[in-house]
Amino acid sequence: MAEPGHTIHPVLTPEQIQARVAELGEQLSRDFQGEEPIFLGVLNGAFIFLSDLVRHMRLPVQVDFVRLASYGASTTSSGQIRITKDCELDLTGRCVLVVEDIVDTGLTLHWLAERLRARGPRQLKLCALIDKPERRQCDLHLDYVGFHIPRGFLVGYGLDYNEQYRYLPGIGELHFGASEGPQGHERRP
Ligand code: IMP
Ligand code: MG
Repeated sequence: MAEPGHTIHPVLTPEQIQARVAELGEQLSRDFQGEEPIFLGVLNGAFIFLSDLVRHMRLPVQVDFVRLASYGASTTSSGQIRITKDCELDLTGRCVLVVEDIVDTGLTLHWLAERLRARGPRQLKLCALIDKPERRQCDLHLDYVGFHIPRGFLVGYGLDYNEQYRYLPGIGELHFGASEGPQGHERRP
């Protein structure tokens, strides 16, 4: 399954992920009771997580997506992120849950949350399947987290390396041969 030079060490089985996503759905259903929240997925990484999550909701949910890009491979400046596909729902007065695959430095989600807050949602909450706090570069509060995984470059269940491995049903840590590494790719939203 892995490309030549790559090995993938299992970190989370499909069953572990599904059980945790179901728990998050329960928690979100309680917390958003009486509301019709907008679940705003960050493409491409969150597409599987979001589609599993909404099917565990016990209340009506609307779904939309944003897609982000950063200039350059190893940028760390939040000023170099841009929206390449914006959300199309009006967020004014709404309860919005941003659904992200993984938070690393936190700069991407921090940047996005600031822009979304300017659109006047009544409530803006942040949800990430994986929190990787070791390299955090900003003060970012995540309201909902599936798993805390301290380090490593993770692939599967929507997470990619160079657009590979998103389709894998579990999550694993990608190890590289001597001549390759994720360097700048860790920064790509
Ligand atoms: P941040 O701005 O450093 O928090 O980067 C967030 C984005 O980088 C995520 O939305 C992912 O798309 C990507 N990313 C960060 N870490 C990983 C990883 O371990 N595997 C795959 N993508 C990652
Ligand atoms: Mg992402």
